[in-house]
Amino acid sequence: MKLIPLFALLLWCGITRAADIENGNDLHFEHCTGCHDSSVYTRDKRNVRDLAGLGRQVRYCKDTIGLTWFDDEVDDVIEYLNQTYYHL
Ligand code: HEC
Repeated sequence: MKLIPLFALLLWCGITRAADIENGNDLHFEHCTGCHDSSVYTRDKRNVRDLAGLGRQVRYCKDTIGLTWFDDEVDDVIEYLNQTYYHL
């Protein structure tokens, strides 16, 4: 019975976890700067138009190079890109 509050707390933490932009920045710096620099995020005719599109593109690029990230990590990078460049 004592485990139930702990479980509830863990669940709550999981649901309310905010994206960690600092982690997104680190991941992006480490894995995402090999093919293009950040100018693709700010160019006039950029591909990404909305948040869903940003998510698709991040996943596409990540899968292309065979990265196995957790959803949390993908979210961190999406949030990092959005706050830094896209402002969607
Ligand atoms: C294997 C090479 C490669 C790597 C590594 C790579 N990308 Fe890309 N990325 C591309 C190509 C190619 C495009 C399309 C460029 C174009 O349309 O001119 C692109 C475009 C993008 C765009 C869209 C830019 C726009 O026009 O709005 C985003 C966002 C993006 N990449 C994110 C990432 C992220 C995040 C990572 C790290 C997980 C990453 N990329 C790593 C090849 C790569």
